[in-house]
Amino acid sequence: MKLFAAASLLVALVAAAPSPSALAVGSIKDIVTFGDSVSDNGNIFALYGNPQAPYYKGRFSNGPVWVEFLSQYLSDAQLHDFAYGGSCANVSNSQSIPYGGTSMTTADLPDLAQQLTFFKKSQFSKLSPDSTIYTVFAGANDMNYAAAVGKFPDPASIAGSVVNMVDSLIAFGAKNIVVNNLPPLDKTPRGYSSPNYASLLALLSNQYNDALEAGLARINKETPSVNIIRNNLNKLFTYAVSEEGRKDFGIDVYQTMCYNATAATVCTKPDTYLFWDTIHPTTKGHTAVAQYAYNQIFNLPGYKAPADVVIPKSSTTTSSAAPASKTTSGSAAPSNSAVTATSTSAAPASSSSSEPAAPSCTISVPKDGYYPMPIDYSAWPTALPSATPGAAAPATPPVYKATNLYSGASGLVASALLGLAGLLMA
Ligand SMILES: *[C@@H]1O[C@H](CO)[C@@H](O)[C@H](O)[C@H]1NC(C)=O
Ligand SMILES: *[C@@H]1O[C@H](CO)[C@@H](O)[C@H](O)[C@H]1NC(C)=O
Repeated sequence: MKLFAAASLLVALVAAAPSPSALAVGSIKDIVTFGDSVSDNGNIFALYGNPQAPYYKGRFSNGPVWVEFLSQYLSDAQLHDFAYGGSCANVSNSQSIPYGGTSMTTADLPDLAQQLTFFKKSQFSKLSPDSTIYTVFAGANDMNYAAAVGKFPDPASIAGSVVNMVDSLIAFGAKNIVVNNLPPLDKTPRGYSSPNYASLLALLSNQYNDALEAGLARINKETPSVNIIRNNLNKLFTYAVSEEGRKDFGIDVYQTMCYNATAATVCTKPDTYLFWDTIHPTTKGHTAVAQYAYNQIFNLPGYKAPADVVIPKSSTTTSSAAPASKTTSGSAAPSNSAVTATSTSAAPASSSSSEPAAPSCTISVPKDGYYPMPIDYSAWPTALPSATPGAAAPATPPVYKATNLYSGASGLVASALLGLAGLLMA
């Protein structure tokens, strides 16, 4: 009897816990986007003129990116895009790498916290929380920059910065937050071309995603009234490269990319490719990300949005039309023609313009705009013993500790280890 009473009390408590009100299709009027190149609708291009054609109007793809499609699927919700190509989840991971042949370094690009500051100072800070969706997606650059300088990234710490961003958004009043996790980094053209690092890349993605989920689960407990919408890109891309998924999406090529910057060649049928360059999806790939996000927002099953959602045709060439400009209030789609002037930073958000504010740095426009950075994963010192190149990632990812690395280290490796230990323990 007593037990029964306790159980009923528990049921009552659970029932009384505030739960997110279900989102109704058509209730979302605004999307506010934070992140990196995958979500940038032309912001970094407006600053320094890259990426240039054959990239599409400042997108790191051959057409619109996922948040632009998502805004269309949500009946032309207004997109307020604060994402910058090249940005880190946390600028402390930027490694200050020269960016695209400019005087700028990756440390000059606004990270999630800085993007949030720009947003808060902008005219869009007064959007109604009930009809606004925030999107957060960052962390891949934090890993790539570490690889570029031969350092080992700390996926849990990187994910922690994304979790901090979600906390900050909730403190600001956000009620609906879409969080993308990382696709399997081994299943990108860059990953496929570094087979010795495949298991390590998979491990890093998994570690990041596990830490992200742990943080989001904690937030769910603490603030159950907030909708934390997981857009599981790891699951989506794993499906997209499977035989069934490729058939479903009409993808023929997934291990290599449509645009080879080294060879300066563009494939003839971009819509049959999952990736545009070594790391960025084609606009076709972006439609898949947007549809999956749509389904997560409304709790719908499957990878594709329901038939009654109007899915605009993705581009088949690099000159595809942009989504209607009324749906994007981020930087206007810049022209693809080379920018010749030196652009200078705009004061963050003091203007009432709809442009996201620029990072405070002087940027000289490069003559040649190579992108993406040719990061060679072999710059990594070596793989973790538990992620031996070519071996399957262990079921339980190891804790990254310097002592886990380089077992049986030679003197040379041992001295490298000292430097690495400093990084891992920082
Ligand atoms: C960014 O990294 C620094 C250094 O590790 C840390 O102190 C800071 O809290 C991080 N910021 C966020 C928002 O996670
Ligand atoms: C890109 O082109 C270069 C130069 O032709 C070639 O060596 C490389 O293998 C190509 N990359 C891929 C992934 O096809």
